[in-house]
Order: sequence, then structure tokens, then C-alpha cells
Amino acid sequence: MISNILNKENLTEEDLVYLLSLENEEDLKLLYDKAYEIKLNHTGNVAYYRGLIEFSNYCIKDCYYCGIRKSNDEVPRFAMDLQEIEAMAKWAYDNEYGSVTLQSGERTDKDFIDFSTNAIKTIKEVSNDALGITLCLGEQSEETYKTWYDAGAHRYLLRIETTNPRLYKELHPNDELHSFEARVNKIKTLKKLGYQVGTGVMIGLPNQTVQDLARDIMFFKEMDIDMIGMGPYILSTNTPTGQEVLKNNGDTPEERKKRFELGVKMIAVTRIYLRDVNIAATTALQALDPLGREKGLKAGANILMPIITLPDYRVKYQLYDEKPCIDDTADHCKACLSGRVRSVGDIVGFGKWGDSPHFENKN
Ligand code: 5AD
Repeated sequence: MISNILNKENLTEEDLVYLLSLENEEDLKLLYDKAYEIKLNHTGNVAYYRGLIEFSNYCIKDCYYCGIRKSNDEVPRFAMDLQEIEAMAKWAYDNEYGSVTLQSGERTDKDFIDFSTNAIKTIKEVSNDALGITLCLGEQSEETYKTWYDAGAHRYLLRIETTNPRLYKELHPNDELHSFEARVNKIKTLKKLGYQVGTGVMIGLPNQTVQDLARDIMFFKEMDIDMIGMGPYILSTNTPTGQEVLKNNGDTPEERKKRFELGVKMIAVTRIYLRDVNIAATTALQALDPLGREKGLKAGANILMPIITLPDYRVKYQLYDEKPCIDDTADHCKACLSGRVRSVGDIVGFGKWGDSPHFENKN
């Protein structure tokens, strides 16, 4: 049964649900081996780095699951200056990281937009245009997206979080600032402007079904997405969703293990279904399992996002509890990760952008 499905040309929603529901070790090995084989054929065994710069945790949004949501008064807020951005970008360049990702809490005021534009220009300058730039700065106007593209960013990550509109409503305040439809439209705008566009979801959310996840994967294809960044939901205690999960006793070791495994299965099934996209093995995987990112690579991921945020800020940028690497430095993260990549038989694509083959194939 499983090998029939794995060898099919076109998988149906039912097939996706079936694969995401696999549980026994032998079946899972077949699934992960198939995904790894497809990865080798379409992206090779090279893992590319996107050095992650988390430059501010001020946020105008109030997503119920997120640790840096606007209403969380317990988070000390920070915003880096341009010199700090320059120092991190220089480190990435000197260490032959092909790209950096600029991430921060969401803001849409002029100061923020201008600062981000200057950050992009600074990264390009300090690296003689060598560093590729991915942005992860939320929902912005078309004009802002264009300004940043013209300044030198060429990839943008905007997670849809879940493609079930009802679930989206449960996870966000019910207002204009948190609209599912707006989010979908922003993804379309980014594509129109020429960005390589990434999206993704959280996996194992309260009330999320395997069918929801299967439909998430179908959404990635329908939207002709180039890159995927997704990971398991992780408890953030001081949030409404976190409190709800705790109340329902939903963060037991068994539940966490289930969410982790579902995260790895999502990578594998997405690789099998979409083939030539870039897929990240995200930090959230490692938060739930010390070998999480390696298992992600083994199941078909080909992108890693080592944190290069200056150490003093790491503890303040916690989207969820138990963020790994909080006490590390960028040097430490580099040494630790390259060994992890080699341990699964992959190599690091130092000094290369490692753009999405899917984007290149369609252009
Ligand atoms: N668990 C897992 N991922 C989370 N994110 C935010 N909060 C959590 C959480 N509690 C993810 C969202 C967002 C990305 C930057 O971080 O998917 O898009």
C-alpha cells in the first residue's frame, strides 16, 4: 500500500492524509527514504545556510500563540542599530554563509521601513553584494515590498500559519490586522514583484487535523510557492494559546513527541509532493528534539537557518519557550551545525546563495 502511493505520479488529498498518518517505524523509513531520494534528485545533498538575524522584537500584532505578541508585557523590547546589523552581516560574509535572513516583530511605521531598507543596503555593502537576503518582516504594503526588493532583498518568507480559515481565526484576534484573506493576498503581491516566495505553517496546533495539514501542502502547490519554512507548534507559556494548551494538559512529553514527528512527516510529504522547492529544517524542530534539524535534513529539508543574532538579544527573541542556542555565539552555532550536516551525509553549500530550484525552473 505505502509503496504504491510513494510511486504514484500525482498524490490525492487522501494519499497525503495517509502518508501524514503513518506511524510504524518501517513505513516511516520508507517515507523518509523516498523524500531524501527526491531531494537528491532535485536539490542535491547540499544544505544552504541562511544566517538568521533577529533584529527587533517590537510587534504590532497580537497572534495568540507567539511569545513576542504585542500584549506580552513580560518581554523586554529591543531594536538593534545599523552597526549591529553590519557586524552580524560581516560575520556571515567572513564565514562564507551564502545568505542571511532578516527577521523581526512586525511594524509598518516609516522608521521601521526606512531602517529595514538601510539594513538591506548595509548587508549588501559589507559583503560586496555577495550575501543573498531573505526577509521575514510580515505584512507590508506593496510599495514597501518593492522598496525592499529594489534595495537588494530577493526572497521573502510569509507564513500562512494554517490554511484553515476557521483555525486561523481561533489563533488570531478577529480584526483587520489579522486577516487570513489579507495574508493570502500579500503572498500573491510578493510573487508579482519578483521575490522568491516562501510560506509555511505551524504543525500540531490545537484543533488542527491531519486533513488540515494535507490541505496546507496542497495550498503550497496551488500558490506555486518556491520555499517552505514550517515547524511544530511549541508552547509559549505567557500567551493565550499556551495557557489553553496547558489547561488541556496538551504539552506532555507524548504530545510534544507527536508534534515533532508530525513536523518531520510534513517535511517529507511536502518534499515528495512539491519536489524542487527549498525546505528549511527549522529551529523549532530542534527545540523539541536535540537531533531535530538532522532528522529534518534526512526527511528532505535542504535549508538551515543558523541563528547569528548577537548573543545578548537571543533571550529576548523568544517566539516560544525553550528556544535552542540561546546561550550560544554565532561561532559556536557554525561549528555545531556543520558537523550535524555531515553526520547525515550532506554537505554545506558555503559561499553560495542556494536559490530555490523551483524558482529557477519556472523562469
Ligand atoms: N510555536 C512555533 N512557531 C511559532 N511561531 C510563532 N510562535 C510560535 C510558536 N509558539 C512562528 C510563526 C511565525 C514564525 C516567525 O514563528 O509561524 O510565522
